[in-house]
Amino acid sequence: MSHQAIYRKFRPKIFDDVLGQEHVTRTLKNQILTDNIAHAYLFSGIRGTGKTSTAKIFSRAVNCLNNHDGNPCNECEICRSILDETNMDVIEMDAASNNGVEDIRELRDKVKFLPVKSKYKVYIIDEVHMLSKGAFNALLKTLEEPPEHLLFILATTEPQKIPATILSRCQRFDLKRIKSSVIVENMKTICNEINIEYDEKALKLIAANSEGAMRDALSILDRCVSFNEDKIDYDTVINLLGTVNYQSVLKAANLIIDRDIKNSMVLVDDILNLGKEISIFLDELIICFRNMLIIKTTNSTDNLMRISEEEAEELKKVSSKISVDEIVKFIEELSTAQLECKRALNPRVLLETKLIKMLNVSKNFNIDELINRIIMLENNINNNSFAEKQSKPAKRPAAEIEKPVFNEVKIQNQATENKENSKPVKEVKSFENKSDEAIYDAIIKGWQTILKKVRIENAGLQAIIRESKLDGVINKKAVFEFDPKFTFHINAANQPKNKQKFKEVISDFLNEDCEVEFIIKKEEKSTKPKQTIDDVYADLVSEFGEEIVELKQED
Ligand SMILES: Nc1ncnc2c1ncn2[C@@H]1O[C@H](COP(=O)(O)OP(=O)(O)O)[C@@H](O)[C@H]1O
Ligand SMILES: [Mg+2]
Ligand SMILES: [Zn+2]
Repeated sequence: MSHQAIYRKFRPKIFDDVLGQEHVTRTLKNQILTDNIAHAYLFSGIRGTGKTSTAKIFSRAVNCLNNHDGNPCNECEICRSILDETNMDVIEMDAASNNGVEDIRELRDKVKFLPVKSKYKVYIIDEVHMLSKGAFNALLKTLEEPPEHLLFILATTEPQKIPATILSRCQRFDLKRIKSSVIVENMKTICNEINIEYDEKALKLIAANSEGAMRDALSILDRCVSFNEDKIDYDTVINLLGTVNYQSVLKAANLIIDRDIKNSMVLVDDILNLGKEISIFLDELIICFRNMLIIKTTNSTDNLMRISEEEAEELKKVSSKISVDEIVKFIEELSTAQLECKRALNPRVLLETKLIKMLNVSKNFNIDELINRIIMLENNINNNSFAEKQSKPAKRPAAEIEKPVFNEVKIQNQATENKENSKPVKEVKSFENKSDEAIYDAIIKGWQTILKKVRIENAGLQAIIRESKLDGVINKKAVFEFDPKFTFHINAANQPKNKQKFKEVISDFLNEDCEVEFIIKKEEKSTKPKQTIDDVYADLVSEFGEEIVELKQED
């Protein structure tokens, strides 16, 4: 047998086969039983819900010679002739292709004639909203004074496009989206009939993706069968639909609600590694939040999209963690992200950035603040071990602060060649200034933070500065020393541009205008505080040579 699409092969043949539309079929059967037929009917509803099928069944039911409880028998001469399309009294036209005035005029001329062998002459006009304005007018004329034997059955997915004058002459029936559970049951019956095994979960996923349209579900089922003739399994469906596993979507939604940036990134990575498209993932995620919104605002799990009833229950729990406002915000942000991702050269990076931003903004602080917080936290963790690494205690007794003072003097000497300044007495006094100590403490404690801030400004500068160590603070000038082996570093650090940048970062960090200076650390012994003027002299001589440094005794 040649392959016939499942949705064609399994077209409902009697009213009782039209699933999920009992409100329509019950009334129609009743009208047939009571011989209370109107002249015009309009079936509206989304695609694939049974409009055309119901129209066809109705055309037989009104003419059947051997009606069963309102259903056509499908066996009598009339039923069979309609089924094999040889009955001249049942005319089906597709308004999409016959939408002109001429077509309807022709129809108008023909309707005058009595049916050849059936009780009713039936016109089924499918997609009736496609008729031209002229054609609608011509149709209206016929509907105004229909002959006794005439029956019009109109079907449309867009009833709002039909003129009110036509609508008012029709009995209207709205076909509903079909419940997932009903769709699943129908697919099970069909699978059993065509001898195909199935995973219940797979059928649920198909139903969830068909948005209440039976035809869509059966088309997906058909594609699955052609893809894998042995069994309808979950993975096949996922692959065919290109959708993202619902559990992944739910997980992502959960992580977003919990603002778990790290695991969100891991999940995005996993999903993309499976070859899923970012826009499909975002689409699913948006629908997921949309469903939460429906759950929260209507307090029910009706009208949810793409999920089964079990999944809806699960989603209900998740949605209790989040407010309506937040959901709306997430939907907006994800929708923008989806749009932008479609245009982006690197959608993945864009998605990741958007997610991070979205999760931070929702927490009401900006990214810089977040980074600072992280740095502070890391700092707190590192603090003890960091303090241990420092060769000097965070708070230094006054006696120990001489050495940086001398170093400072050296630099000044270098600049001014003023040998008078080789006496450190004055600076020692000013270094006892409390705020210098506070600055010293703050820099020692916040060193890692400062380095990270420098890195944000200039990664190269951070690489240089991290090799230095705070030596002391004098008159709000922080002096950093480098090991002599880092000559390149000290030269680079002392470049005005770099020095200025570092000064800015430090000042910003301390909230205090603080100058910075970089010096070369003396060999091992110089880390010990200098006790005497002679030590200082020796130090200076070794640095500048005897010709430059002259020791002047006070008395
Ligand atoms: N309510 C329904 N019950 C069972 N099958 C349905 C139903 N609606 C649609 N189908 C399936 O989808 C196919 C197309 O349905 P159709 O009646 O043409 O939908 P519509 O005209 O609303 O787009 C049918 O052949 C049948 O396989
Ligand atoms: Mg149709
Ligand atoms: Zn019959």
